[in-house]
Amino acid sequence: MSIHFENVRRVTTQRLIEMKKRGEKISMLTAYDYTMGSIVDRAGVDVILVGDSASNVICGNVTTLPITLDQMIFLAKSVVRGVKRALVVIDMPFGTYQGNSREAITSAIRIMKETHGDCLKMEGGEEVIESIKRVLSAGIPVMGHLGLMPQSINKYGTYAVRAQEEEEAEKLIRDAHLLEETGCFGIVLEKIPAKLAQQIASELTIPVIGIGAGGGVDGQVLVIHDMLGLNNDFSPRFLRRYANLEAVMDNAIKHYVDDVKSGDFPNEQEQY
Ligand code: KIV
Repeated sequence: MSIHFENVRRVTTQRLIEMKKRGEKISMLTAYDYTMGSIVDRAGVDVILVGDSASNVICGNVTTLPITLDQMIFLAKSVVRGVKRALVVIDMPFGTYQGNSREAITSAIRIMKETHGDCLKMEGGEEVIESIKRVLSAGIPVMGHLGLMPQSINKYGTYAVRAQEEEEAEKLIRDAHLLEETGCFGIVLEKIPAKLAQQIASELTIPVIGIGAGGGVDGQVLVIHDMLGLNNDFSPRFLRRYANLEAVMDNAIKHYVDDVKSGDFPNEQEQY
């Protein structure tokens, strides 16, 4: 599918809820700049996430924790300029909403004012519910994120599958219901057993988007660098690679270097 932008109808949070009702699956991918944002949008993706995974794939950090509010705003602004149809969700970075709800609303308003994005995503359930309520009360739509929450990696110590034990699974179910009751328009479930994710998706009326959470949810999200094969040393079981852009780029760049060295580039037609 490729989108023609005359008479384009923007994806809204309400449309995602209707898609769930109709049983239409939701596609979501990350993007971190103008060019990628516009390519992903034109290809027909419903939701574009300016994820704090930018900390890893753009900034080269080991975790998502170091990325700052200013850096997320810079990236999100660029993505938004390239998007005409998809709903743009922006991750609130670590440290901008966990402290208290006043800090959360200040950070959220800055992101919305400066980026012109559509909505925000926050990791956590009960622990951050006051922050989520405060942001929602300002009219800013919020997407939740449960299961593996990379901003809490120092608590877990590992990126292994979450909620395999009953106690953690029960808390996750409670948190998912709490996020829906509080007013979140959707939830990302990361790296949890497929059966548990399917149960949650069937119990909630808001869309549940999975990453490593099986096919029984309402939609899927992947990090674009991973699915395009730009990040080949990361290969978890849930990841399907749709291209090997690292190899394509490597080949093209080596070819360019050879052409420069040999004097083949530029040729007669490539100069003034
Ligand atoms: O930051 C991110 O890319 C995410 C996805 C993994 C859902 O939160």
